[in-house]
Amino acid sequence: MTSEVINARVTFRKSPIHMLERFTFRDIDSAYESFLKHSGLQECVLLQTCNRVELFGFGNGENLERIKKTWASVSGLEENAFKENLEISQGVDAYQHLLKLTSGLDSLVVGEEQILGQIKESINAARQMRASGNALNTLFDKAIRVGARVRQATGISKGSISIGSMAVKLAEDNIDDLKSKKILLIGTGEAASLVAKSLKKRGIDFDVTSRTFERSKSFAETAGGNPVRFENTIANFKLVDVLFVATIAPYFLVTYDRIKEAMESRKNGMMIMDLSNPRTVDENVATIKKIKMMNLDQIAEMVDKNMRTRMGVVSAAEKIINEEIPVMEAAMKRLEVEPIVKNVFKEIDQARIKELKKALQMLGEKDEQKIRIIDQLTQAIVEDIISVPMNNLRKASEQGDSEILKTVTKLFDYKTKE
Ligand SMILES: NC(=O)c1ccc[n+]([C@@H]2O[C@H](COP(=O)([O-])OP(=O)(O)OC[C@H]3O[C@@H](n4cnc5c(N)ncnc54)[C@H](OP(=O)(O)O)[C@@H]3O)[C@@H](O)[C@H]2O)c1
Repeated sequence: MTSEVINARVTFRKSPIHMLERFTFRDIDSAYESFLKHSGLQECVLLQTCNRVELFGFGNGENLERIKKTWASVSGLEENAFKENLEISQGVDAYQHLLKLTSGLDSLVVGEEQILGQIKESINAARQMRASGNALNTLFDKAIRVGARVRQATGISKGSISIGSMAVKLAEDNIDDLKSKKILLIGTGEAASLVAKSLKKRGIDFDVTSRTFERSKSFAETAGGNPVRFENTIANFKLVDVLFVATIAPYFLVTYDRIKEAMESRKNGMMIMDLSNPRTVDENVATIKKIKMMNLDQIAEMVDKNMRTRMGVVSAAEKIINEEIPVMEAAMKRLEVEPIVKNVFKEIDQARIKELKKALQMLGEKDEQKIRIIDQLTQAIVEDIISVPMNNLRKASEQGDSEILKTVTKLFDYKTKE
């Protein structure tokens, strides 16, 4: 069986966001080492975002079981954990999936820009680790270019609604006169900045906090909000009407007891939006009276609904992707023949130089100009004879004729010459 591109992924499409964390590669360098050593893949690229954990590999498609086994051991999982969660695409399907990724079509927020940067970072990291080679480097470089083209031609990235602005919109829809409410944002990272951006755009005042006060201060300077001290704030939610939480805390920052206590001294309700994955607000909080709570899955669902209204843009993007797939397929097929073509040219050129030297010696030729003319003559003859069959080989391979590759490899096996 010949090598092909394989994509194995666990994403928000099949798995609730809090489940994804189980499949992540905590130590990416050792994950690369393990995949290259144990999965049978010749190349691999790992992509991890808060909505997906993906592996792109180049190797024998029969290695799927080994890929799963390696993934399970790297992430400390039982192999059957993949049953409900893993999706696999191979060959052209894998190309299509990557193009959808770079174009933002497979994102939770369709058209979002972040994914393109994350894919660039992944392929750069794989290159540095020497985990990717000719096949995946070519595939990713092309996919990144197509992704940029799709975004530019369709405007899909413009007007895409972020998770942060959807969370703010939902708060606005559920709460009368949001501007007059006490709003607290816990978190000063990327997701929090999406919320802050949207609040600021609407002219809504808010407090922001994270464990280091300095971080809250510098966040407030760039993204807006009033920085407040973490310990005091987290221990007392009494005055908060709307709470946005976007942290990577590995435990519940907002506990049942804290909210229960706060609600006992409040007349009005409270809205809580947990954008974190894994969650940092205890799910049981939702059972407390007068609490309206939404988690990332629910916010994402609203984003998705909103996106369906932009179907025209989506189908324009899909059209470009469908045009690009055969181009990509041809480029990938060409890669298969290039080593043979290169080898044939090299072997023939070596033979040419050897014979040229012999002839020049026999002629006793010293005149530089004459030597150059004879050299160019031999080069031209070689080129003329070999270029056409080699170009035909490239074309046949692009058209999926794998038999010709085997035949040419046999015919031009110079190692067998005496
Ligand atoms: N980035 C996105 O586009 C996006 C989209 C949807 C959902 N999310 C989710 O949102 C959450 C935050 O992601 P992010 O991309 O914003 O991460 P990030 O940029 O790494 O920021 C992480 C935030 O968590 C805080 N934090 C870290 N450890 C903490 C702890 N033990 N206790 C309290 N706070 C802690 C950090 O501030 P301090 O260290 O100062 O406390 C920082 O404010 C994640 O759960 C992610 O899955 C992100």
